Amino acid sequence: MATKEPLIIRDKTQMTKWSRTMRSQSKLIALVPTMGYLHQGHLSLITEAHKHANVVAVSIYVNPGQFSPNEDLSTYPSDFQGDIQKLMSVPGGVDVVFNPKNLYDYGDSDSGEGGDGDGGVGVVSCIEKSGLGHESWVRVEKLEKGLCGKSRPIFFRGVATIVTKLFNIVEPDFAFFGKKDYQQWRLIQRMVRDLDFSIKVIGCEITRENDGLAMSSRNVHLSPEEREKALSINKSLSKAKSAVEDGQVQCEKLRNLVIQCITEAGGTIDYAEIVDQHSLEKVELIKGPVVFCVAALFGKVRLIDNMEINL
Ligand code: PAJ
Repeated sequence: MATKEPLIIRDKTQMTKWSRTMRSQSKLIALVPTMGYLHQGHLSLITEAHKHANVVAVSIYVNPGQFSPNEDLSTYPSDFQGDIQKLMSVPGGVDVVFNPKNLYDYGDSDSGEGGDGDGGVGVVSCIEKSGLGHESWVRVEKLEKGLCGKSRPIFFRGVATIVTKLFNIVEPDFAFFGKKDYQQWRLIQRMVRDLDFSIKVIGCEITRENDGLAMSSRNVHLSPEEREKALSINKSLSKAKSAVEDGQVQCEKLRNLVIQCITEAGGTIDYAEIVDQHSLEKVELIKGPVVFCVAALFGKVRLIDNMEINL
């Protein structure tokens, strides 16, 4: 059953004004940052948000700052009207959708000046290419380096920066992130602690399709055959978890099990690492809580997934 239509705000000043009005009415504000093309995984964050806050804001913004020029920014799927319908299907709906046009256009840039800077990380983002003149970035120095950071060196700098901007614009009390993007969640938690944001970051469990595939906006790009092969990720992670429960604590063996299973199914491994749940540092022998993180390509589609193992 459809609930109320959300208010749609495109201007950042209006967004802050809305939040401050809510705060003046003693309402607790939740923010769920997204890049749109919503699925049940995103909607589960909204359901969680209702448990903590009085009003829920969802941002829909495909952030060019986290894409390298060779990544899939131009093909990132979008369906704004479909997203609004889905948001209205969540019990309680959402109060506001923040859908800015360009959060890096300050209306005063020297067009054409940008594009050469590499921000100190060796690769430019779509924003540096754009000539908009944005040059301030938030870095979470250690957590951004491993796992996805290896093949996407500017990704987490872009995520930390846009999330900071959204926090400053929306001024929420709570912010919700999916554990599907485990490294992103941990990095935002660390940033909030290190930089004294007075925002509580809440991590939400991974939502999966019935056959175990972790929901992702990128799944639409999988052919039916690739989708079938991609099931090997969750299957192999579940096998590894059972092996740990049966006493196997050597990470090399567990990694090989997962790599073999995904490779045999036809996937190409980007990484398969067992890491500490907080520091995300590699572990050799499992002695406490870890998370098994995987990134693999099926055709051109890069998928990530993970499984927490709490010994
Ligand atoms: P996006 O990929 O749209 O994801 C938005 C949020 O939904 C993230 O917190 C992500 O972890 C969560 N999510 C995605 N799939 C999920 C699933 N299957 N189960 C549970 N949660 C899931 O992540 C981003 O956007 C961006 O990097 C963003 C944080 C918005 C910054 O641009």
